[in-house]
Amino acid sequence: MTPSTTTAAGTAERYLELLKGCLTRVLFVEDEAAYLDYPGGSKALRESRAEGRDWPATAETMIGSARLDNLQSCIVKVLDDGVPGDLLEAGVWRGGASILMRAVLAAYGVTGRDVWVADSFRGLPPPDRDHYPGEMPEDLSIHPELAVSLATVKANFARYDLLDDRVHFLRGWFRDTLAGAPVEQLAVLRLDGDYYESTMDTLTALYPRLAPGGFLIVDDYGAIEACRQAVGEYRRDHGVDEEIVPIDWTGVYWRRRR
Ligand SMILES: C[S@@+](CC[C@H](N)C(=O)[O-])C[C@H]1O[C@@H](n2cnc3c(N)ncnc32)[C@H](O)[C@@H]1O
Repeated sequence: MTPSTTTAAGTAERYLELLKGCLTRVLFVEDEAAYLDYPGGSKALRESRAEGRDWPATAETMIGSARLDNLQSCIVKVLDDGVPGDLLEAGVWRGGASILMRAVLAAYGVTGRDVWVADSFRGLPPPDRDHYPGEMPEDLSIHPELAVSLATVKANFARYDLLDDRVHFLRGWFRDTLAGAPVEQLAVLRLDGDYYESTMDTLTALYPRLAPGGFLIVDDYGAIEACRQAVGEYRRDHGVDEEIVPIDWTGVYWRRRR
């Protein structure tokens, strides 16, 4: 649906559509496909970006259009329904999804909520299979592409004029930063740390702070067995039985019962 141009809500939607096109580079996909000499050309790259299947060369997010749309709609829903709390992403890479979080608040003139941006800002830790036997077989700590510095993420927020005192950075391994983070209540909690450890540490530290009516989003549920296992064990051990709703080939969410 083409957003209305004649209302404030329509203007907010157009801004957010434009922003998502920039954050994924879908707006510039022909240029990027030509530059990368992408197999299959711009059509294949557009599909890949829509589904969040590649690690983009320059885009600020790898999660794709469907999962960005889901994030936006979860935030709009908590705003419409008056669900209290801040927004937090654990596992931000270049920051694109967290940038969208701040942009949605800005677009709708929301001043009473903050955005929390949690990452090591140096990539993933080596997998710790002694403590987490269900950990994934791959060692993602060896990928320098996944290590994005705090300075770069801040610069990416600033690029879109969205770096302000409503954005807070939690720097370090989730096991060290999240339990003691000064986050009181969350309306949207987005998990994107790939590993069993990262998923379990985030759920353990923060799910109890998710407000009734708030949304829990898991980026890697379909793609990574270890992540799915952590979610399943946490839900089983804490009596969480809300329906898990698929977003696309990997992302899922559920809404905490009121
Ligand atoms: C797949 S990327 C996140 C993608 C991002 N949400 C986006 O919009 O493109 C995973 C991120 O999680 C971070 N990460 C994973 N496990 C972590 C942990 N245990 N502690 C801190 N950061 C972690 C990595 O540094 C990396 O930036």
